[in-house]
Amino acid sequence: IELYRPQNLDEVVGNVNTVQRLKYFIQNGNLPNLLFSSPPGMGKTTIAHCLGRQMLKDQYKTAFIELNASDERNVTDIRERVKTFAQLQITLDAGRHKLVFLDECDSMTSQAQLALRRIIEDFSDTTRFILCCNMIQKVVEPLQSRCCLITLQPPSVDDIQTRLVQICASANIQYSKEALKLLSQLAEGDVRNAVNNLQTTSLSLDKNLTLQGVKDVLDFIDVNQVDDILKVANQQISDAYLKIKSLIVEGYSVEEIINAFYRFGQNTENKMPDTERVRFLKAVAQAHARTTGGIQSETQLMRMVMECVGK
Ligand SMILES: Nc1ncnc2c1ncn2[C@@H]1O[C@H](COP(=O)(O)OP(=O)(O)OP(=O)(O)O)[C@@H](O)[C@H]1O
Ligand SMILES: [Mg+2]
Repeated sequence: IELYRPQNLDEVVGNVNTVQRLKYFIQNGNLPNLLFSSPPGMGKTTIAHCLGRQMLKDQYKTAFIELNASDERNVTDIRERVKTFAQLQITLDAGRHKLVFLDECDSMTSQAQLALRRIIEDFSDTTRFILCCNMIQKVVEPLQSRCCLITLQPPSVDDIQTRLVQICASANIQYSKEALKLLSQLAEGDVRNAVNNLQTTSLSLDKNLTLQGVKDVLDFIDVNQVDDILKVANQQISDAYLKIKSLIVEGYSVEEIINAFYRFGQNTENKMPDTERVRFLKAVAQAHARTTGGIQSETQLMRMVMECVGK
């Protein structure tokens, strides 16, 4: 996976406006402290490194340090390391600062985050901070307010596909467009997931990705199976139950089944009327919410199926 991590912002897909803004800072310097927030696999860590590399060029190795918030035992360690780093004599271009990258800062205690805010202030004449988090609600308000908050949006299916095409070209992987589209859809905005699956499938398929090949290797629930379930649910609900049951026996999790319904609802190739689609996706979203709340049962799935077919 590290092999395919973008080294330059031009390789980062999605979030066009954000990338544009960052390029502005690369041109003009005067970077504010940044706080990136998004679910996993959308490019926070990647963007932070690209930004450092492109802003600092030859001095990236010396003027950029990464501290992992969940590794550093306590803030005193962080303060000491930042202090030593801030004291280093490094000549930078006008408007450039040394950069401290602190990944996963939402895993720090509130106490530690408050102390971090002080550290950011104390070293502000020489250093800028790039922070990342998955959950912004776990970052204390005073720390948020010291930073420019950048919330990354999930890259679209097309965006992810663009990245997969680039990787295939660089790694000499043959592919059909449909195969890459499927990988991009399955990822649901998580580019890491798409890249991982690309690697796995390309390995098994000897660098020749066909749609059928990818389906065989990845073993996910096909939208046609969802279509089947919905059809029988319309006639005899107990038959739909048997189908759901057999998916579970085959080893699919409740989450995987809900995801398959979600993909079905998103799939514009089926000719569902708009009002029906809205109801369908709402039912899926509610099932998702119920089951992530910890209620993992077939009953929840059946409730979803019935709501999906309007019963
Ligand atoms: N926007 C993107 N453009 C291109 N590749 C991406 C993008 N986002 C993620 N990737 C790919 O996924 C991998 C993981 O991305 P990254 O580590 O930057 O995600 P993250 O947002 O920091 O996730 P986490 O919250 O789990 O730390 C990268 O090595 C890269 O291959
Ligand atoms: Mg990360």
